[in-house]
Amino acid sequence: MAYIWPIGGGKGGSGKSFLTCTLGLLLAGLGKRTLIIDLDLGAANLHTFLNVPYPTKSLSDFIRKKNTPLESIVLETPVPDLFLISGANDTLDVANLPYEQKIKTMRAIAKLNFDCILLDLGAGTSFNTLDFFLISQNGIFIATPEPTSVENVYRLIRAIYFRRIRQYFTVADFKVLEDATVRYFGDGAYAKPEYIMQTVKKNYPETGLKLENDFAAYKFKLIINQLHKQDDAGLGPQICRLVDKHLGIKIVFSGNIAYDEHVHDAICQRVSFIDRYPYTRTAGDLRELGKQIIYSTGDQMMINYS
Ligand SMILES: Nc1ncnc2c1ncn2[C@@H]1O[C@H](COP(=O)(O)OP(=O)(O)OP(=O)(O)O)[C@@H](O)[C@H]1O
Ligand SMILES: [Mg+2]
Repeated sequence: MAYIWPIGGGKGGSGKSFLTCTLGLLLAGLGKRTLIIDLDLGAANLHTFLNVPYPTKSLSDFIRKKNTPLESIVLETPVPDLFLISGANDTLDVANLPYEQKIKTMRAIAKLNFDCILLDLGAGTSFNTLDFFLISQNGIFIATPEPTSVENVYRLIRAIYFRRIRQYFTVADFKVLEDATVRYFGDGAYAKPEYIMQTVKKNYPETGLKLENDFAAYKFKLIINQLHKQDDAGLGPQICRLVDKHLGIKIVFSGNIAYDEHVHDAICQRVSFIDRYPYTRTAGDLRELGKQIIYSTGDQMMINYS
């Protein structure tokens, strides 16, 4: 069974695809059979990052055609041990994947025979993004130091927390839960996951306990990317403290990645940044993160289908 790392960030442009590809290259470089899945379904572009010719097969084939196993749409990349499942041909209907298709995709991903799987998720808080993020305990959040990016990553973390609570209830039961939350905490409280969780603990103690165990088991990580010299290097730990205080989720701050304008050059030239510019601070940061990721493979992944 593969180790799966979903990579998400609340805001577009934070560096999800760059980080996913770089981690893929580092893991493959260590001899791990690594698969990257482009799940930014409305705007898939990893084939370009990885210098793979425009894909002739993609996730839409798996989703639309009955007898297309997920293995059959895996593409080779120019890098040994690094493979790609592209979302490139996907049109809007695939971007808004129906629930059954999503479950089918998650099950198939879990069965794939690779050492490591990295999922590049779309920006924002769509159900696709939330559900694919919750496919394993090892999700990685990425944000830049800009306040808008920080705000969006916090919103994403909160939405994931909310989604996990929501997964334990039927539509009808969740309505009852929302109504109770409003009774306890006032108008608008149904939209605050913190209040919802307090009501769960009060009215459904068993589910509350299960959720607390789930949240305790998550090994989510946070990375701050594109850190300029003048930026506060302590921002990541601050966000983690905030998340712990308000949501009770312990997110490990994994490190900062320095901003380097050569990243742009490498992407334009369609070459690997860490290979072309190995002695930059940014390449060092990325290698350090790669090490952390590989050392964190001691624990089994968890799949949530419900
Ligand atoms: N550490 C960095 N230093 C400098 N530039 C960076 C760095 N990381 C990413 N970038 C730049 O940010 C841009 C956006 O990166 P990327 O495409 O990986 O973001 P994304 O989160 O995947 O965006 P989207 O949500 O639109 O897919 C890239 O074009 C790249 O040039
Ligand atoms: Mg991207």
